[in-house]
Amino acid sequence: MADIGVIGGSGFYSFLSGAERIEIDTPYGAPSEAPVVGDLDGREVAFIPRHGTDHRFPPHRVNYRANLWALRSLGVRQVLGPCAVGSLRPELMPGTFVVPDQYVDRTWGREHTVYDAAPVVHVSSADPYCPIGRATVIANGNVVPDGTMVVINGPRFSTRAESQWHAAQGWSVVGMTGAPEAAIARELALCYTSIAVVTDHDAGIATGTGVTQTEVYEAFKLSIERLQQLLRDVIVQLPKADADCTCRHTLDGTAAAEAVGA
Ligand code: ADE
Repeated sequence: MADIGVIGGSGFYSFLSGAERIEIDTPYGAPSEAPVVGDLDGREVAFIPRHGTDHRFPPHRVNYRANLWALRSLGVRQVLGPCAVGSLRPELMPGTFVVPDQYVDRTWGREHTVYDAAPVVHVSSADPYCPIGRATVIANGNVVPDGTMVVINGPRFSTRAESQWHAAQGWSVVGMTGAPEAAIARELALCYTSIAVVTDHDAGIATGTGVTQTEVYEAFKLSIERLQQLLRDVIVQLPKADADCTCRHTLDGTAAAEAVGA
């Protein structure tokens, strides 16, 4: 069993000692990769590489439901979801870490809910991220402590007009994987915290020249060590699986509470 889950890049594999790969099937099919569970400084952590070990799943093909269900079935209650993002503000430079407090979901065509049939369940998304997870990350890193992440469907990057529109709304960063990941975590009453790693200035802002995949990958590599250190520091401080949090009460009073075992 594990109580903390990480969904991120495959660099995290090297983190866990005594790691065991656990084959799990879910009602939604297979996760991106069988989760690996291991010890990190005394905490049991389950890890799934979001895009698969060989990066075979583009953002719109990631099985977000299966990834989160698999983590939950291993006992995970706190999920950390680091992801690469573009900056919509000149002052948010590549290498900046943003801990979003809001997202705007502009994705489409993705399996975005686990409540697709009876019973009808509507969960609150007003504050979509875990307050405890966010506070722990903010206390541990040189991070921007809030901001709105707009999530586009991809896999193409935004046009200049789209990017300028996103910036004009006051949104901070743009990514491709933050939704429906956060929404499904909430539907499963999981605590979920996003750590958005700025890799580029998006196309619309004054200094942006247009984004390339190479630029994003190279910039992400430069931040990996710092991200791993941050995750390590945060993981040891996160509450244990049986700790209380508002996220755990998401399903209180709904017909789903028992089905999910919240
Ligand atoms: N991920 C990293 N950079 C991005 C950008 N500019 N737009 C969308 N997703 C991204």
